[in-house]
Amino acid sequence: MSGFLGTNAPLEADINLIIQLFMGIALLVGMMLARRRRYRAHAICQGSTMMLNLVMIALIMFPSFRDGVIPDLPAGLRKPYYSVPTLHAALGITAQLLGLYIVLRAGTHLLPRALCFQNYKLWMRTELALWWVVIVFGAATYYLWY
Ligand code: HEM
Repeated sequence: MSGFLGTNAPLEADINLIIQLFMGIALLVGMMLARRRRYRAHAICQGSTMMLNLVMIALIMFPSFRDGVIPDLPAGLRKPYYSVPTLHAALGITAQLLGLYIVLRAGTHLLPRALCFQNYKLWMRTELALWWVVIVFGAATYYLWY
């Protein structure tokens, strides 16, 4: 089924693009909540965004990567059509895993002491910056593909 943004993209790509932009904005709103010391609201906002993105990866992005990119690797890496989504996927997995680690560290007592960082600001700012880099590469994939 075709999408609603007036490009050649299928419906799921348009839905993913819009939801990803909303999630990127939600993380920025979450950052502002932390600045205002509203830590509980901050935790709910960032944690639920992390979980929703797991669903988006599982339902839309991983299947699309598996079917549309992996069969043409590594030969296709010379073309932006394949190299941009490959870089996007590598950075995206990193951002998702880093995000889950931060949620585990900041929101639970499940991690051993040796794995607990203290510098919350540094880790969370790095994650937010990386996340937005991933969104830019995702949007570039959308542009190249559709
Ligand atoms: C923090 C994690 C991630 C973010 C913020 C993110 C964001 C985005 C955005 C904004 C798009 C453009 C919308 C679209 O074309 O559907 C996109 C597309 C895509 N992403 Fe991600 N992504 C993430 C993780 C991943 C991962 C882990 C993979 C691979 C396993 C992946 C593979 C793809 C693929 C193949 C597309 C093109 C989908 C299509 O249009 O059919 N992404 N992503």
